[in-house]
Amino acid sequence: MSETNEKKVILDLADLTKKYDNGDGVEHINLKVYEGEIVTLLGPSGCGKSTILRTIGGFLDITDGDILIAGESIAALPPEKRPTAMVFQSYNLWPHMTIYENLAFGLKLRKTPADQMKNMITNMLELVSMGGSEKKYPGQLSGGQQQRIAIARSLLLRPKLLLLDEPFSALDAKIRQQMREELKKIQQDLGITVVFVTHDQEEAMALSHRIVVMNKGKIDQIGTPAEIYDDPKTLHVASFIGEMNFLKKEGKTLAVRPEDITVCEGAGQGDIDATVRTIMLLGHYVVLTVQHNEDVIKCNVTRDLSERLAIGDTVSLKLGKHSLFDAA
Ligand SMILES: Nc1ncnc2c1ncn2[C@@H]1O[C@H](COP(=O)(O)OP(=O)(O)OP(=O)(O)O)[C@@H](O)[C@H]1O
Ligand SMILES: [Mg+2]
Repeated sequence: MSETNEKKVILDLADLTKKYDNGDGVEHINLKVYEGEIVTLLGPSGCGKSTILRTIGGFLDITDGDILIAGESIAALPPEKRPTAMVFQSYNLWPHMTIYENLAFGLKLRKTPADQMKNMITNMLELVSMGGSEKKYPGQLSGGQQQRIAIARSLLLRPKLLLLDEPFSALDAKIRQQMREELKKIQQDLGITVVFVTHDQEEAMALSHRIVVMNKGKIDQIGTPAEIYDDPKTLHVASFIGEMNFLKKEGKTLAVRPEDITVCEGAGQGDIDATVRTIMLLGHYVVLTVQHNEDVIKCNVTRDLSERLAIGDTVSLKLGKHSLFDAA
């Protein structure tokens, strides 16, 4: 992203290492997050995403390296002194307080004048599409609504950096998708900088300006969704993001996506020949699985072509865009 070169660095993780007593944790994390970006930490369970987020928020001490915000080290500051706000997976609104009181709590601590506070809260509730809910209690709201209030509460404190740890994971698929779109809009409207954590690659692709793919406590690759998808740098990234076929080729592993394979009828017209195993209609396109030696390969084909094919037919495959890796 060339345009980010001129942008201000908000967060700088400088060779950050956090080890728990048992040796687990993250090491040598180097990451710069620019003003106005949504950067997502993505990776399988246990790879260290929450650990990084908690060190940024100040809920965990670091073992080595440094954390800078707008150029200043914050590593020694307690959470409440950091210019960050964190939203956890469980909403942690105070159940005995109304929505208004929940939102006012942090503002009161900052001695915000009452009339100004009322305006800020009204506007913020509009922004998260929860206008008019001031007098309700958290228990009277759905999960998605509570999560919007939790995000509103952190935004009211105007953090330099908003930290979101799987904030939508408790929600069902449809609301999750809505929340993603809403978060993206709020982020754009306010121009805030967000570090988002998820293990859901689709969520990461949909939401992020850049994605940090993690594996076992380390960073594998940092890039835009398109860079990560089109040019995975490791076998782990290739297998974690999107659908990928892995074929053995001369001692290497060739990775090719189902949409990058062209299927031709009959033998000898492509890079390899294969036999049709299954044909699955998935709406506007068809997924074919074919067998080549011991490899089963998934390919996307048009409905038109699929209707001319039958199980057991010989086809040939042209392998388009692909990556080569040393065999795992
Ligand atoms: N308080 C702790 N004490 C010791 N080890 C911990 C502690 N918290 C996390 N770990 C270990 O550190 C590693 C990273 O954990 P972390 O919670 O950061 O993973 P994660 O990527 O957030 O996973 P998930 O997607 O499941 O939330 C794991 O191996 C975990 O077992
Ligand atoms: Mg986690």
